[in-house]
Amino acid sequence: MEAKTIVITGATSGIGLAAASALAGMGHTLVCVGRDRDRCRHARESILRQAPQADVTYLLADLSSQKQVRGLAGEIKQAITGHRGESLDVLVNNAGGVSNWYTTTEDGYELQFAVNHLAPFLLTLELLPLLQAAPGARVLTVSSGSHRNMQMHWQDIMYSRKYNTLLAYKQSKLANVLFSYEFNRRYGQDSGPRAYAIDPGLVNTSIGLKGTSGLVHWIWEQRRRGGASPEKGAETVVHVASDQGVSNVQEVYWKDCRPLPPSKYARREAEAARLWALSERLCGVG
Ligand SMILES: NC(=O)c1ccc[n+]([C@@H]2O[C@H](COP(=O)([O-])OP(=O)(O)OC[C@H]3O[C@@H](n4cnc5c(N)ncnc54)[C@H](OP(=O)(O)O)[C@@H]3O)[C@@H](O)[C@H]2O)c1
Repeated sequence: MEAKTIVITGATSGIGLAAASALAGMGHTLVCVGRDRDRCRHARESILRQAPQADVTYLLADLSSQKQVRGLAGEIKQAITGHRGESLDVLVNNAGGVSNWYTTTEDGYELQFAVNHLAPFLLTLELLPLLQAAPGARVLTVSSGSHRNMQMHWQDIMYSRKYNTLLAYKQSKLANVLFSYEFNRRYGQDSGPRAYAIDPGLVNTSIGLKGTSGLVHWIWEQRRRGGASPEKGAETVVHVASDQGVSNVQEVYWKDCRPLPPSKYARREAEAARLWALSERLCGVG
């Protein structure tokens, strides 16, 4: 198996750390992203304990800030150029979070929409030339089965008038699937990079404990006990990032290391095109 260069965001805990650990152990070169210096150091140490020869670098960025996303893309380019020339085989947009309260980022956008959707959108476009330079490159975005029974809330995309934590989260995970389909329509033809939306299933991580309190915090504390381990939850990420056979499969949405149809809504071209145009405007690109 040929060693790949892989960027993975949110690699300081949960699914991201487990995926980074597994991929580093397979001999791939990892450029990991976290938002806290100490957590990045601990994560790197834990990867190196399991795979002492691992080639793993951590970069710092708060992905709620578009300025930091752009800065991160520049640092990734530098880190990769030092390693393997100017190409990137795999980008894993994994970082994500839940916010109990209507919170706006420094760019003025609702936090979950900004971190869970706009950051992957912008980071992917910033890294597009590197991805296009790698034959068979892949862009994975960690979505969720919670995208089902959900539609885009076009009349108030940031839920600014009547904020609902769960609906804002589910919408952001639906946006991950719409983004992946639209990316493939635009860039994934022939030998271009292909995008995949990954459904990790229910995983026992701290995601619902971080930006929450009260009932939402309590519900996640109960619910996550029924979840799989982060290592199990990372299996589909690892499979789609590294398996040769995936390139021969056109399907976009993956769960349990197999393609699975997402919701009908998530496959609507018009919704995906509308989201793409809005995201371009909100990120000042295009
Ligand atoms: N757990 C589940 O059951 C489940 C199910 C479906 C989908 N997912 C998705 O899986 C992905 C990973 O979640 P997880 O469950 O593994 O949760 P997690 O353990 O909380 O991991 C989330 C990662 O994202 C990072 N992150 C959050 N906000 C960030 C920001 N503003 N800037 C930079 N990094 C940020 C976190 O950093 P810190 O370590 O500093 O907090 C952490 O590394 C998310 O996209 C989530 O929506 C999870």
